[in-house]
Amino acid sequence: MCGIFGYIGTEKAAPFLLEGLRTLEYRGYDSAGIFVHGHGVIKAAGPISSLEAKLPKDIQGTAGIAHTRWATHGAPSEKNAHPHHDMSGRIWLVHNGIIENYRELKEGLAVQGITFYSETDTEVLVKLIGSFYKGDLLEATRLALRAVRGTYGLAVVSEHEPNKIIVARMGSPIVLGLGKEGNFIASDPSALLVHTKRVVYLDDGEIASVSKDSFEVTTIRGEKKTKKSEIVEWEHEAVQKNGFAHFMLKEMFEAPEVVLNTLRGRLNVEEGTAKLGGLEMVEERIKHIQRLHIIGCGSAYYAGEVGRYMLEEYAHIPVEVELGSEYRYKKTYPDKKAAALFVSQSGETADTRASVEKAKSMQMLTLGMVNVVGSAIAREVDAGIYNHAGPEVAVASTKAYISQLTAFALMALYLGRQRGMSKAEGLDIVKALQSLPETMRAVLKKNDEIAKVAKKYAQYRDFMYIGRTFHSPIAYEGALKLKEVSYIHAEAYAGGELKHGPIAMLDKDFPVLAIVPQNDVYEKMISNIEEVRARLAPVVALATEGDLQISAVADDVIYMPKVHPLLQPIVAVLPLQLFAYHVGVAKGLNVDRPRNLAKSVTVE
Ligand code: F6R
Repeated sequence: MCGIFGYIGTEKAAPFLLEGLRTLEYRGYDSAGIFVHGHGVIKAAGPISSLEAKLPKDIQGTAGIAHTRWATHGAPSEKNAHPHHDMSGRIWLVHNGIIENYRELKEGLAVQGITFYSETDTEVLVKLIGSFYKGDLLEATRLALRAVRGTYGLAVVSEHEPNKIIVARMGSPIVLGLGKEGNFIASDPSALLVHTKRVVYLDDGEIASVSKDSFEVTTIRGEKKTKKSEIVEWEHEAVQKNGFAHFMLKEMFEAPEVVLNTLRGRLNVEEGTAKLGGLEMVEERIKHIQRLHIIGCGSAYYAGEVGRYMLEEYAHIPVEVELGSEYRYKKTYPDKKAAALFVSQSGETADTRASVEKAKSMQMLTLGMVNVVGSAIAREVDAGIYNHAGPEVAVASTKAYISQLTAFALMALYLGRQRGMSKAEGLDIVKALQSLPETMRAVLKKNDEIAKVAKKYAQYRDFMYIGRTFHSPIAYEGALKLKEVSYIHAEAYAGGELKHGPIAMLDKDFPVLAIVPQNDVYEKMISNIEEVRARLAPVVALATEGDLQISAVADDVIYMPKVHPLLQPIVAVLPLQLFAYHVGVAKGLNVDRPRNLAKSVTVE
């Protein structure tokens, strides 16, 4: 949510800043701006391309900061775009997060005669820094941040001290990139890959002074910190479209590889179990866990819901799934026999992070299922599993979701074998997992067919998704994808719930997408489809290959391969992602950057 990029070195800064912003654009695309020492500031409302169109070709400076915005306070206009400046006009700040006490701070500054030109909390912060400035930007920033309540990832520069950029972190990510041609800063390591893989992650409460060949980290209280650099495993290629029309399409087409990478080195084919290295250090504690809470937001929450079915069925462990935005405020009780598992692609989602704190205070074992290595949640939990899905650029999550479900299947196998699953059953699951990448490849071959069906339904205003048991959360996820990338009103219900209310909405203009694999609730789903047809609603069925009955009750059928029941939801979600994508494309929408959204929700 908002992207920050900065560079200080020996090369011209402007091209680097622009390129950094382009990579970070998925974090927000309401407005953008850059500041380069020796040149000044340029801002534009709208996407990065609007900023690019305004940039002169000959910006010479070798240090600067840049920002792409997802609006929180104030409309997405040029006036509200970052960087913002202090009263002297010599200090410039870019900020990701929310300053909660900005009104109070603003009043205090107004008393000193300080005036404001925008509606943003960020302007208040830079004016506060300016009010403390006596020739030392690091110290002024520290003093200001001590007065602030809220979240920030920020970068600030002073025209009086062109040889440094000050960055700080509280709740919103900041990573330093140590390169040959200078040092970089970014909200996300993906933006650094083209320059360097050597990075330093700032922790909450830390502030760094970055120059072209060194950096120094302290806390906002001034204590020195020793930080080690780490090497990012991702390749620069992973953040390119590589010939695909959209990142979303590319990321769905990566599904076979993503599954393979999530499984890599984690299957024990002799013992019929999973080897989850990240959980080994807490293995004894996990063995004695009696309850599991799974916490996430959005798609990660729906992944947790599928995980619940998997773990309850195969590992016999009672599971509760909670939204991060609710769990953090919910009444909970100390429980040493419970573990809390936090699911997050970015590892930075504010509500999920706050829930980690909550579970810790309840003495629970905290576990993470995170994609971005080194992210906040990954570092804050006791132990966990990395997804290894690679960077996800499209705002709507697809490949990370598939990886989350795959990791849940691994967990079901691992915990199941600890809790009484027979070796024969374990071996069956291992075998099914081994062929999962191939199965995903088979699903992708249906892309054109799915596109045709999607085109037929692109003009509807409403959609209903239904599924049962393992596929009920898949219905929710399918509907979420459609909402995000096509703006079609889509609802989801467990199939059995339709007749308890929502069926009232159905008519010939309200199609239903039914997920109806051949499993133990197949007949029940067929009955639901009949009920829907009786109200004249068109039906699209996602059914198992070889199902001869389904075409008699559905208007259109998308077939998927039959796999082990544990893995069926993983296979089912990919056609739904493709369907949503093609509907969005048929409507001529920007599927990679849907309106009003941003990836990595670091505000609460
Ligand atoms: C939906 C989507 C979001 C995220 C949610 C959590 O396509 O991407 O719903 O799943 O914002 O994000 P993470 O997983 O980064 O915590």
